Amino acid sequence: MSDSAAVRIEAAAMQTLIETLGRIGEQPGGGIIRHVYSPAWVAARRQLETWMTDAGLQVREDAVGNLFGRIEGRSARTVLTGSHVDTVILGGRYDGALGVLSGLAALRALEPLGQPAKSLELVVLCEEEDSRFHANFWGTRGILGLIQPDELDGLTDLDGVRISEAMRQVGLDPERSREAVRDDLDAFVELHIEQGRILFDEGLPLGIVETITGLYRFKVSVEGRTDHAGTTPMDLRQDALQAAIRMAAEMTELVRAAGRPAVVTNGWWDVQPGAWNIVPGHVAFSVDLRHPNEATKQRLQREIRLRCEALANEMGVRVAFELASDILPCDMDTGVRAALAAAADGLGVRWMPMVSGAGHDSQVMATQVPTGMLFVPSVEGRSHSAAEYTSAEDAARGATVLAAALHRLAF
Ligand code: HGY
Ligand code: MN
Ligand code: MN
Repeated sequence: MSDSAAVRIEAAAMQTLIETLGRIGEQPGGGIIRHVYSPAWVAARRQLETWMTDAGLQVREDAVGNLFGRIEGRSARTVLTGSHVDTVILGGRYDGALGVLSGLAALRALEPLGQPAKSLELVVLCEEEDSRFHANFWGTRGILGLIQPDELDGLTDLDGVRISEAMRQVGLDPERSREAVRDDLDAFVELHIEQGRILFDEGLPLGIVETITGLYRFKVSVEGRTDHAGTTPMDLRQDALQAAIRMAAEMTELVRAAGRPAVVTNGWWDVQPGAWNIVPGHVAFSVDLRHPNEATKQRLQREIRLRCEALANEMGVRVAFELASDILPCDMDTGVRAALAAAADGLGVRWMPMVSGAGHDSQVMATQVPTGMLFVPSVEGRSHSAAEYTSAEDAARGATVLAAALHRLAF
């Protein structure tokens, strides 16, 4: 059996990959925008396709736009690694991208070791960030057969473009999306930046994820009454924005009182009609609630709704809720975690077990495929920001552990 101990991925090689991919979709003021099926997304995949081909991998695209690079094994089963290539608005160079690039570096290093027992594949997942269509892990759900037919024409972006139209614009046929489904996966391993600051504060180079937090996302719509800003007394207003602000403030206090790791974020707001001299009559805002314990997550979302309804009554406005996603917390596979731990221990890389506060493709993949995650440090825990940074040394070390783990799982 070939020896994976010889596999070492160099920091300089990782830095070159990170910098090259990071320039695709980079904005003049900093930060990256690579929304699914956008021109930047197409350009990033073209670059990855070139690298995969140069590495001697068999390259193919599936029906929803996931890109694969494969090393054919002796059996029909496959071990998959990878992450997402899309970004949040003005995101960083590492979220998703580092998992793709580490997988590329790992397969590039393993390819010369001979034919593995199981096929080894890198996947560039087409969409995870929910940024353009609220498509919620679109690539992974395409692989697992979890895309609902009505989503293809039901999901639209802020310009009203349907996801099915956007797929056609990049040469995909949405009618064939079911062809992305596969049932040959024995394991999925995702390397990802931690996006928090635990590893950074602990001075540790690696995390092995035990559980990924649950996510509950919904839109709150508040209907008040538009009025003249100058002639309407404060006590006669039905100001939708003031009610929404109190709802957001009170849910924040409610979740803060629940203690770590409960978190809630109101990141998106829409205030109408949005004029200086009109009392806002309609406000919509997002709620992103997370907790690794499902019962606690559901209790908090119920308490938040009740608080919003009480405030609406008190302030003479109407409130409505629209669920966007309710994703279970998810434990990683013990067998895959053991392979990750053995790989790290075999390389003398210190690590700690972790709970992920970020959502990941892995928590959906894990519903059908034995799944594990490796974390590498995020400096000062910064992410979903142009300030996102992971050192090339930490990236290379993580990619080396990934390669050793994939060797254990596939050779
Ligand atoms: O929101 C998240 O946790 C992930 O980055 N999509
Ligand atoms: Mn991510
Ligand atoms: Mn992200």
